[in-house]
Order: sequence, then structure tokens, then C-alpha cells
Amino acid sequence: MARGLKGGLTDYGDAGFAAYLRRSFASSMGYSRAMLEKPVIGIAYTPSGFNNCHRHFPELLEAVKRGVLAAGGLPLEFPTISLGESFTSPTTLKFRNLMAMDTEEMIRAQPMDAVVLMGGCDKTVPAQLMGAISADKPAVMLLAGPMLGGSLDGERLGACTDCRRFWARFRAGDIDQPTIDRVEGQLAVTAGTCAVMGTASTMACLTEAMGLCLPGTAAIPAVHADRLRAGEATGELAVRIAGRDDRRPSAFLTAKSLENALTVLLALGGSTNAVLHLTAIAGRMGFDLDLHRLNELSERTPVLVNLKPTGTHYMEDFHRAGGLGGVLRELEDLLHRDAAGVTGETLGERLAAERGAWVDRGVIAARTTPIDPVGGLVAVFGSLAPNGAIVKRSAAEARLLEHTGRAVVFTSLADMAERIDDPALEVTADDVLVLQNAGPTSAAAMPEAGYLPIPKQLGSKGVKDMLRISDARMSGTAYGAIVLHVAPDAASGGPLALVRTGDRIHLSVKERRLDLLVDEAALAGRRQELEPAATAPERGYARLYAEHILQADRGCDFDFLQPTARTPLAGD
Ligand code: FES
Repeated sequence: MARGLKGGLTDYGDAGFAAYLRRSFASSMGYSRAMLEKPVIGIAYTPSGFNNCHRHFPELLEAVKRGVLAAGGLPLEFPTISLGESFTSPTTLKFRNLMAMDTEEMIRAQPMDAVVLMGGCDKTVPAQLMGAISADKPAVMLLAGPMLGGSLDGERLGACTDCRRFWARFRAGDIDQPTIDRVEGQLAVTAGTCAVMGTASTMACLTEAMGLCLPGTAAIPAVHADRLRAGEATGELAVRIAGRDDRRPSAFLTAKSLENALTVLLALGGSTNAVLHLTAIAGRMGFDLDLHRLNELSERTPVLVNLKPTGTHYMEDFHRAGGLGGVLRELEDLLHRDAAGVTGETLGERLAAERGAWVDRGVIAARTTPIDPVGGLVAVFGSLAPNGAIVKRSAAEARLLEHTGRAVVFTSLADMAERIDDPALEVTADDVLVLQNAGPTSAAAMPEAGYLPIPKQLGSKGVKDMLRISDARMSGTAYGAIVLHVAPDAASGGPLALVRTGDRIHLSVKERRLDLLVDEAALAGRRQELEPAATAPERGYARLYAEHILQADRGCDFDFLQPTARTPLAGD
């Protein structure tokens, strides 16, 4: 039941006094007594001068408030921290859990009957979902929506696949400084999240697949009027779910919701980061998301979406082509149709209502003619990654997915920066570039550095892809034969720390294997030589992070934020 401002009173030892005092201070904001009696809709509001992707939030907030007021609620926005990808050091992932804690505690501590979560940039959506799931009040997400693309000399450009493509060309000497300067001004030309199926758009689609936002809203561009209408409708929905126990995340989110999200992730050829975030979200719900289950689903789920970084189109095309609904209808028999969303509607009911809707087959393929017959992501396991690693097979040169090569090892990001372009570096296109100490327990805190650059001496000869392995992440907008999230990571003493230049490494995506071909006696010797783990920082969030961060196979959440009793994500 909605309790409005009477909910969660400040503790003075006198409830009557606390309610009277709260009304008195709320009145000072100019609200009438009648407004103060209405259900309260909190709005987790995350604009920031350090987050370009949320630049349009002031206008979007007005739309949400309009919807709340029209439906008879009192909208009260509250700030939480915001995470802008390229403005945060060492990496936004380090602060995702801080944002999740901020969101959770402010939802819990303040008197709201439902909450609208406004987020979009990569880590903000998982952080808000993790926090809202743990707080367990009725919650609905309103996504920022993607940017529109820019153009240069007649060529369409969009963050951030084209950022990397042009930077690689610049590094290889293919384009000059004035050209890269002009590219810089055309990559991100509107408010909103990156223009391709990167992490932000992948997480937006997974949010819709789990029923945590209004159907049909994940892909609406940030600057489109439909985005404002979605804001208004989200505000109205928030009033409808206010105070309802059956609209708490725990009441309708199930293992089936997670499996639907995994299937959609695979069909999108979506971001590798989404595996990490879904694992963390599952953990908050009390489920262990087993990477073997990802592999099972990957075998039966075709890639249907022709979007960058692996395809040719941009998010604005995806929206025009039919959006996520067009993908969900193709996947219908692979999805749990009885999974319900925050609206109360099941996925099956939604899809039945949308049957026959128009789809642009140049962007969203039919099941009979998929882009790829199997899913875009797979997990590999073996002596180099006992707890798994992730490969985006849809983004790699096929020959490199079955490959044995000589390791060329970089012991840290600094080491890589210093030596990767050194003409004296002994490296061939068949070698395997290995980056150590860039995982969650390293000082680098798992940056998006897994897209190791091709050494200049090879790039300038036209080499475009090499097998690259690390415990880091990769931007959802990047591509290549890249093995990521190796667990356990090198800084915690995982086998990745034992690799030396000259070792042989074998990857077989077909067999789901990643092995270091070095005998155990040699590895035991190397293990003895490993430096002891660095001591935790003395204070603050850095210390909390160092003491509680979990490995990639647990979603890099903090151990104390996940319920201790968890069950494996069951199969069909
Ligand atoms: Fe915000 Fe890419 S930088 S989504």
C-alpha cells in the first residue's frame, strides 16, 4: 500500500512528531497539503557535467514528472552518483558497485512508494538495477536512449566502434592528424548513449527483455520525441505500481527473466560486458549465472541483429527497423513467455499484441536467414581460465578462433604502453598477445583494455586481427579475436599470472577450451616466484573495493552485497 510521505519516518522516538516535522519541511518547498498526501514517486536522477550521455536528462525529467502528476502522484527526484565512461579513472566498473549502493540505500532510506530509475551510460543501468533489486521497492527503468550518428565526407560515424576503427587507421599511418581531428568532432554528436550495440544499448535491451522498462522503449533515440513520451508513460506507470507488493522486483523477476536476457544478449551479438553485469544482477536475485549455461543457450540462439560493432547499422536504424520487439518475436519459441514484467504483462502477452508488426529485415534478420546460426558470445575454460573467460566469436576473424600460438606477454598496462609499438618487439601475426594484471583485483580494476592494439610494426603491414588474451574487459563497441575476463585474474595469482613470453597457448572455441601448454612442474616453479599480493589501500572506497571485490565469474560485485544463499540458474 502506498504510504506517501508517511513512509519510513526519521527516527526521533516519536512518530507523530516525525510526520509533522516532515510535512512542515516539505511544505517549505511550496507543496500544498493535498500534494503531500499523494503517493510519492522517487526519481533516481543522474545527470552530471561529467556524463555527456545524460545531457538531456533535465528535459526527460520534466516528462517523467508530467506523467507522475497526471496519474495522481508526487514526483520527487533525488541525485545519486553518475558514471560517465570516458571521464572516470581508472574505470567506471570500479565505481559501479558504489553507485549500486548509493541507489539502493537512497531508495530504502527515503519515503517513496515506487522509483523511476533514469540511467543509460554503460555502468549506470546495471548499477541502478542491482541497487533497485536489493532495495526491492516497486521500480521501473527509464533509459537514456542512444545518440544519433554523425558523418564525415559522406560516411556515417558513431561512437564508439568508429572511434576505434579510425584510431587504428591513424595508428597505422593510414589517415593524418587533420583527418583524425575532424573525426573526433563527428563521433558523438547528440545527447544519449553510444550509437552502436555497445554495452549501454545491450543493457538497455536486456532491461526491456526482463520487463524492467516499458515495452518498446529500449532503442528510442535520446533526442526523439518518443523518448519524452516514454518518460511520461514511465511516470504514469510508476504511480500505478506505487506501494504494490506484486510489483517489487522480487515478485516478478525470476530465473526465467534472466534466461530471457541471456538469449536476447546472444541474439543481439551484444556486449561482453553484459555477461558481467547480468551475472551481478543474477547474484543480487540469488542466482549463480553459470557460464556453461551461457554456452548451452549460445548453441541454440542465432544472431539476428545487423548492428555495429559486428554488423553495419546503428541504433537509430534499429529503432526504425522495429526495435527489440522485432527481435523478441523472432525468438519467441526460445524465450520463457510466462515471464512477467513490471507492467504485470507477460512476455507472451506482449508479443501476441505485437504480432505482425513491421520489421526491416536489413537490420533485424528472420530466424530462417540469421546473421549467424549460433550466438555471438561463448565461454571457454581450461588450464589458463579454470573459472572461465569470454569470447565474442561474432566479432573475430574465424581462423583465430581455432589457434595455437606463441605468447607475447605484457605484465601490466604500463608495460604494454611502453613496448607494444617498440620496433624491437619480437612479434608475428600468429603470436598471441597476453596482458596480465588488468583484472578486477588489480590496481587497474578491470579496465576496457582487453582490446590490445595491434603492434604498429604489424598494423602498418595490414594485420587487422590477432588473438589477444587478458583478464581485462573490452568496450562493447570493440571487435576482434579477443579473450576477456579470464578468471581467476592474474593479480589474485590465477594461471594467467604464470604465462611467459614464448609459451604456447591453445584456443579452441569449438571445444570451448583455453589452455596454457606448459607442464605442471614448470608452472609450480613459476608459482613460487610470484610476488605476494599488494596490500589493500589504507582507507576509503579503494579499501572497500580491494577487500570485497569478486572475480569476473561472480560479476565483480562485492561479496557482502549478494545473498549468501544462491541457486544455479536452471536449464529448461
Ligand atoms: Fe556513455 Fe558510451 S560513453 S554509453
